[in-house]
Amino acid sequence: MANEVQKKRILSGIQPSGDLTLGSYLGAIRNWAALADKYDCYYMLADMHTITVRQVPAELRRHTLTQLATYIACGLDPEKNVLFVQSHVPAHAQLAWVLDCYTMFGELSRMTQFKDKSAKNADNINAGLFTYPALMAADILLYQADLVPVGGDQKQHVEICRDIAGRFNGIYGEVFKIPEPYIPQVGARVMSLTSPENKMSKSDKDQNGCVYMLEKPEDILRKFKKAVTDSEASVRFDPANKPGVSNLMQIYSAATGRSFEAIESEFAGHGYGDFKAAVGEAVVELLRPIREETERLLADKAYLQSVYRDGAEKAARVANRTVGKVYKKVGFIDR
Ligand code: TYM
Repeated sequence: MANEVQKKRILSGIQPSGDLTLGSYLGAIRNWAALADKYDCYYMLADMHTITVRQVPAELRRHTLTQLATYIACGLDPEKNVLFVQSHVPAHAQLAWVLDCYTMFGELSRMTQFKDKSAKNADNINAGLFTYPALMAADILLYQADLVPVGGDQKQHVEICRDIAGRFNGIYGEVFKIPEPYIPQVGARVMSLTSPENKMSKSDKDQNGCVYMLEKPEDILRKFKKAVTDSEASVRFDPANKPGVSNLMQIYSAATGRSFEAIESEFAGHGYGDFKAAVGEAVVELLRPIREETERLLADKAYLQSVYRDGAEKAARVANRTVGKVYKKVGFIDR
């Protein structure tokens, strides 16, 4: 239609560095499917980011395919969303190099994820781990994204992306759209079940703290049963003093749609045992259809291949346009 208003664009991604967690579901993917009608959506499997930490190649391939199947099982219709693998679109590497040259050593040194990951991987503090935010900025800016739906832990990376884009635009004119982070109200920071002061993370050494999206129901229930609480025996939202219980309330609220007040009255006078079992069951029911659909899709490799090939083609069309513009601006001659 000639007078159709251009839809705003969304880009986000997840690293296929392991099995997806309940944190990445509640903080990110769950919120994506509903955006497809209103926005022009691009969702990436950020495989290039994963090699900042050593990966087992066969596992990386398996995680990438499983993650694609999970995206679709979570309601991301490939007809309505562009689903693609980052390494299939060379423009990501091309723009990342240019942006590296417009990103300051000092600002990269302040990134909390870099500090955390270099503490965890002290024997492999490589240059990619350090410049990771410039690659992530390229991911976003290539698509001229308006919004970047992420969990709270990625906010700092979207902010540095805005700074890099602003710096580049300041020199060369309006090349990049400045993106906004888009962070959910509930589930923005799902914490570990065993150490609720840390975020739930697939790289957590303590497997009991982290719930995986495709995990067996009995394992999920067991992990919630073991979740750390406190000695007060009262289900009340108070993240500073009751981080374990408050985290479970967040998860329960995200899984059932109930408010914190409704949850407090539902469990008034009950022990934590009942509460933890209810949260576990709600999560099992939330994830069950996704697990079943993911398994079904994984049996159809030809379909998954057609999805990522088509996605790469569509993504590259947009991304190449941005790289062309950037190359011209910085003074590279046209081939
Ligand atoms: P990653 O792969 O660590 O996490 C993927 C998404 O899940 C969210 N998330 C959480 N949300 C709430 N609670 C948690 N415990 C939790 N754990 C993870 C993250 O906020 C994220 O939204 N650098 C990114 C991947 C990336 C990206 C991008 C994202 C690469 N390029 C461009 C957006 C745009 C990352 O490592 O996310």
